[in-house]
Amino acid sequence: MRTLPVYTPMVTLILLAVALTASVPLSFGAEAVPPKVRAGASPRVLVAYYSLTGNTEKMARGVAEGIRRVPGVTAIVKQAGEVTKQDLEAADGIILGCPTYYANIPGKMKVVIDDWSWKMKVDFTDKVGGAFSTGGGQVGGKEHVVISLLLFLLSNRMAVVGPLYGNDKTGSEWGEPGSAAMTGPLDPGVSEQELDSARRLGERVAGFVKKLTAR
Ligand SMILES: Cc1cc2nc3c(=O)[nH]c(=O)nc-3n(C[C@H](O)[C@H](O)[C@H](O)COP(=O)(O)O)c2cc1C
Repeated sequence: MRTLPVYTPMVTLILLAVALTASVPLSFGAEAVPPKVRAGASPRVLVAYYSLTGNTEKMARGVAEGIRRVPGVTAIVKQAGEVTKQDLEAADGIILGCPTYYANIPGKMKVVIDDWSWKMKVDFTDKVGGAFSTGGGQVGGKEHVVISLLLFLLSNRMAVVGPLYGNDKTGSEWGEPGSAAMTGPLDPGVSEQELDSARRLGERVAGFVKKLTAR
């Protein structure tokens, strides 16, 4: 065993080099941003809504039913004003819903969501989003509200999707930016068809979240 004194320092050096290399974190270039979805964790989608007279709340419950259609994905439903930073950060998907006020997002809802970003400093990067709204009028601004909510999510670095539809008779398939219900005198309350659009939205977001977290 005369060789032992010669090789021992070399082996020690090699072990030291391996240990040092392992302890240095790999740096990601500008192109390689690591995904923020919680790979391996049980996926969850948060439905955050504002509702004064119950219509949007009914749609929110429909969205949650759709989320639960996707096995393994948990749905959490909360009034937007009660959502905590922890709720937002633990969610892999976030679906926002509110009524239409003067063809736009109600001021109270806007203040709440703006605060999530610039006061709570929530990191929304790479979460999956969707949006829904209700409105009393036929052309009262519901779609504008959906798009405005989606723009909020996009501006906060999220990816957004909408519900999918298909017509078995014609074979045609299409998507929509979100879901909505007309609740005014011409078509009071939330109909079964409008609830179906809410369920489709929840199902689509949950399906995307499941794909992203399945790695
Ligand atoms: C202050 C105010 C402004 C509204 N403005 C509109 C509007 O511009 N367009 C519309 O379609 N409905 C409008 N509505 C009707 C609500 O959007 C509708 O009743 C909605 O379904 C209420 O949702 P909620 O029951 O979840 O509170 C307005 C309601 C209120 C109270």
